[in-house]
Amino acid sequence: GFTRNFSSSSSLNAIKTISVVGGGLMGSGIAQVAAQVGQNVTIIDVKPELLEKAQKSIHSNLTRVGKKMYKDDAGKIDSFVKESYDRIKVSTNLEDGADVDLVVEAIVEKLDVKQQLFNKLDQLCPAHTILASNTSSISINEIGAGIKRKDRFGGLHFFNPVPVMRLLEVVKGDHISEETYKAMMEWGKSVGKTCITCKDTPGFVVNRLLGPYSAEAIRMYERGDASKEDIDIGMKLGAGYPMGPFELADYTGLDTNKFALQVMYEKTKNPVFAPIPLIDKMVAEGKLGIKSGEGFYKYN
Ligand code: CAA
Ligand code: NAD
Repeated sequence: GFTRNFSSSSSLNAIKTISVVGGGLMGSGIAQVAAQVGQNVTIIDVKPELLEKAQKSIHSNLTRVGKKMYKDDAGKIDSFVKESYDRIKVSTNLEDGADVDLVVEAIVEKLDVKQQLFNKLDQLCPAHTILASNTSSISINEIGAGIKRKDRFGGLHFFNPVPVMRLLEVVKGDHISEETYKAMMEWGKSVGKTCITCKDTPGFVVNRLLGPYSAEAIRMYERGDASKEDIDIGMKLGAGYPMGPFELADYTGLDTNKFALQVMYEKTKNPVFAPIPLIDKMVAEGKLGIKSGEGFYKYN
């Protein structure tokens, strides 16, 4: 049946070595989850200091995971951390990351910068290499518009924090082959994620639904219907969400939030995604959330 076809065809294409381009928040998490399950990973970033930062954060997150896996067994924790960490190489030279089975792009959320990168990767990588973008809100088809291997290209959308969130959205562009799609699904499973499939629609599944939720929470606060603290408590205790909408907006970043709403508004014209004056004001003031020290709440 389907299961048998799935495993036999995908084992031929099993992804064993990967590169992650962009070693920021998401890229370092993606590199970590792959290294944790025995895959060799190369992280490419334009700035050496960001590669150093990525390595530090991966080391401390691996220790967190190791402690959870092996409780008080310090020897096992140490070897898990060391072995996983040693599978990760870093470089500022894209060519060092080209000869792999899969490249996951996690650089800045800008269409032209992503297009340039994929055009370069298309030239540098061997024919079998699958190229994937972790974009939150840009169209997969548009990102891959200039590449030749359109059948070996798609979206692999992770969630923050990558080592903890169990979901991976596998996004099918218009030209992806069934073989590539299956290899991407199987790779997602191999790094411990539950994969869902979506078409190349604005916001895919999760952000398309989080957008109206987050926007309406902010409008509710703007109207003075309830305090932001009470709205957060409401959604945590009344709906079982781990964070309330304002905590989540600060966690994700208000600039990211604004950009995602903007893209979904442009593409769908649905007024639920229309610009929100309060977000525009806060972003203009540099109140971006946890990363800038202040958003809806203050952080030290
Ligand atoms: N690496 C490894 N482990 C981590 C971690 C990290 N970076 N961050 C947290 N953890 C682990 C902790 O060790 C802890 O493990 P145990 O419970 O087993 O001890 C667990 O995760 C919970 O962490 P904390 O106790 O520190 O804090 P918490 O209970 O508040 O959980 C949270 C933190 C997991 C972030 C949780 O609040 C949560 O799930 N929030 C919602 C996050 C969310 O919705 N993310 C999606 C955003 S949308 C997106 O990403 C898409 C996009 O395109 C923008
Ligand atoms: P980030 O700013 O933390 O990291 C981006 C990294 O890419 C930086 O280290 C930067 O130096 C590097 N970079 C920029 N241009 C580059 C280039 N041309 N070549 C190599 N490296 C380059 O950003 P992030 O939050 O990790 O987001 C990365 C991607 O993941 C974006 O497309 C974003 O939309 C998506 N995403 C973000 C989240 C989130 O919650 N932050 C969730 C899912 C998806």
